[in-house]
Amino acid sequence: MGQLDGKVALVTGAASGIGEATAELFAAEGASVAAVDIDGDGAAAVAGRIGGLPIEGDMGDSAAVDAAFATAEGHFGGIDVAFLNAGVAIAVADPAALTDEEYERIRRVNLDGVVYGLRAASRAMRRRGGGAIVATSSLAGLIPFPPDFVYDATKHAVVGLVRSVAPTLEPLGIRVNAVNPSMTDTRILTDDVKKLFAEIGFPLMPPRQIAEAVLGLVASDASGECWVCQVGRDAEPYEFHGVPGPRGEAEGRTPPTDT
Ligand SMILES: NC(=O)c1ccc[n+]([C@@H]2O[C@H](COP(=O)([O-])OP(=O)(O)OC[C@H]3O[C@@H](n4cnc5c(N)ncnc54)[C@H](O)[C@@H]3O)[C@@H](O)[C@H]2O)c1
Repeated sequence: MGQLDGKVALVTGAASGIGEATAELFAAEGASVAAVDIDGDGAAAVAGRIGGLPIEGDMGDSAAVDAAFATAEGHFGGIDVAFLNAGVAIAVADPAALTDEEYERIRRVNLDGVVYGLRAASRAMRRRGGGAIVATSSLAGLIPFPPDFVYDATKHAVVGLVRSVAPTLEPLGIRVNAVNPSMTDTRILTDDVKKLFAEIGFPLMPPRQIAEAVLGLVASDASGECWVCQVGRDAEPYEFHGVPGPRGEAEGRTPPTDT
């Protein structure tokens, strides 16, 4: 018996790296998988290997995201799991060197794509009566990452999105979480970065390790959590520190969150 027998999963960025490994693991666990990627040939190759449905689409485009979910839902009859994982890096460290084009290129996939995906998944899962959404943030979503400060900002945004939307969707039976991997051996890392890590003897994680964390999140009852994936450790939820509370009149009170 697979952990996802009878379930339908949509994976974005499924043609390579973490998305590919997760699509493969989901299928091995019994899920029917829609493999979505801007690289249509890559999506078709992965879907062909796992008996899934390939979908070509640009996850930075809201109509394309809606179309991908509609295609998968129409084909399989519903969606139980969405892995919002497509992402890019731009490796710009100095804000003076950032062009509008580079900023737009990363923001539209890493941030807009997750917002559009959350929206489409939550609509489909309402129709299904529940589901699990996992978004790929990064360790860079929890710490500074000077080599790519906009990448870092988009990944922090994913953490904020997941933690803020989870309480709204949990009563509907829809759980939303993030996975926060450290350096993983995929095409997003340049050859220079891979060489540097090899030289200092710091191993990169195999994408399969992140896929197992994603499966763990899907199979758990976690909601609003961010699971850190590090070399040599099991994935674990990041413990957020509280912020200083108010003093004086408001001390001990919590402001209302529903406006
Ligand atoms: N590799 C790492 O070290 C690492 C660490 C932390 C987080 N991440 C995140 O993991 C996710 C997956 O990246 P990866 O490491 O597997 O890299 P990857 O480059 O191997 O895979 C990314 C996939 O996303 C697809 N993609 C890019 N833009 C797209 C778009 N507009 N629409 C649809 N698909 C698109 C690519 O075609 C590719 O198949 C990304 O969000 C990345 O930021 C990676």
